[in-house]
Amino acid sequence: MPARRKPPLARRGRWPLPTADWPDDDATEPSDHWTGDGTGPTRAAVILPWSRFGHGVADHPLGTHEAGVPDRPRAAEARLAEAVGLCASIGLVVVHEAILPLRIRRPSTLLGEGQVSAQGRELQRNGVTVVVVDAMLTPVQQRNLERGWNCKVIDRTGLILDIFGERAATKEGTLQVELAHLEYQRSRLVRSWTHLERQRGGFGFLGGPGETQIEADRRLIDERLVRLKKDLEQVRRTRGLHRSARKRVPFPVVALVGYTNAGKSTLFNALTGAEVVAKDQLFATLDPTMRGLGLPSGRRVILSDTVGFISELPHELVEAFRATLEEVSQADVILHVRDAAHPDTAAQRADVMKVLDDMVADGTLDETWPSRTIEVLNKADLLGGVEQVAVRTNGVAVSAITGDGLRALALAIDARIAEGMDVVDYDIPPEDGARLAWLYQHGEVVERSDSDTNVHVTVRLLPADKARFERRE
Ligand code: GTP
Repeated sequence: MPARRKPPLARRGRWPLPTADWPDDDATEPSDHWTGDGTGPTRAAVILPWSRFGHGVADHPLGTHEAGVPDRPRAAEARLAEAVGLCASIGLVVVHEAILPLRIRRPSTLLGEGQVSAQGRELQRNGVTVVVVDAMLTPVQQRNLERGWNCKVIDRTGLILDIFGERAATKEGTLQVELAHLEYQRSRLVRSWTHLERQRGGFGFLGGPGETQIEADRRLIDERLVRLKKDLEQVRRTRGLHRSARKRVPFPVVALVGYTNAGKSTLFNALTGAEVVAKDQLFATLDPTMRGLGLPSGRRVILSDTVGFISELPHELVEAFRATLEEVSQADVILHVRDAAHPDTAAQRADVMKVLDDMVADGTLDETWPSRTIEVLNKADLLGGVEQVAVRTNGVAVSAITGDGLRALALAIDARIAEGMDVVDYDIPPEDGARLAWLYQHGEVVERSDSDTNVHVTVRLLPADKARFERRE
């Protein structure tokens, strides 16, 4: 049997594809075709199966929010544009795009027979070697489409995993993405196996080289998973130490959150003058980026950029987001950056809010987060300037590109922090351990000096806590 060549995405990433991804030795392998000669950009197609009624394929929640009557074709176009942007961000050259209406979800190929063959002709005509189907595909659907089209096919999860693999910069980010990738592979391994099992049904036993190989792959993945989880635990402990060190710095933390491509990095740069990657690429930031920022009042804050949110985030990737989500939970002020000019801006807002609400549900975010949030309506320049953008209470319209509205935003951050925090000094008798403990519990002790007669502490407190403490003095 000739040695198999690995697909380009696997070659570029850090993870070999388990051989069980290709269990049928006698089947025609598309890989020889789509690996090409390994030079030049990869010609890709993006296919968006679009359903009005869900079926687990792309079905944007537009219309359930403030946008009113759903404009389905426009929402599909935006979703397609997002997928094309995702592809571009990992260097795929998209030469063919299609939105395919879907009435039923075919178990074998997801798409209808006619759609598969019509697309096959288009793919061939355009010399496409990788097809991104912007939906969740079962391993069976993926394989059948690969055979039908003689191309490599990846689904939405696979695409996002690949992007994360390229973007992860810190040790923790890299480990988390690798973990997510392996878990994704493992789940597909199991499902492939089940499928094979069914194909071989009737013999009353399982066996043969296919099964042995799958078992071996699974064991390898399991061993690697155990090691990764240990490494991750270690890295997290270290990060915990770093964070508590930072918490002792008396600077409030301002976290930028928002939908992918909303302009967080551009805004971060505009506010701080920092050189942070800001390309027309989705997910330009995976790991939190911190930078000091002086506000008009003279107060200094730490600005923290985070990875972009995305709708339908594959569940395997939720953990990979933890690092950035945890930064948000530590933040004194949350800047929710929105692309006000995006056709799906309302749905994107809802997605971000849902993720933050989910964090409240699982205990990682305080339920008061909305009162600490400033909604930043970015890209006002595309809507005729900041005056033209309708903002809610707690909202500021800006253009990170032109700088319009940035001073108003800085003032709003200042005001929110002033409302939110006080740094106060107290002298506490050493025997009054309970009051000292209360301060540690409710505030952030920035400085402490112990003498024989008292303990002097400088503590950052919410006004309500400060009042409570002083009532008890
Ligand atoms: P992720 O890292 O993917 O989460 O993206 P991001 O939210 O950090 O977006 P980024 O800052 O990379 O900006 C995305 C694109 O939007 C870039 O092409 C920016 O130049 C553009 N952009 C950002 N802010 C503005 C703005 O105020 N006006 C206009 N017209 N474009 C903007």
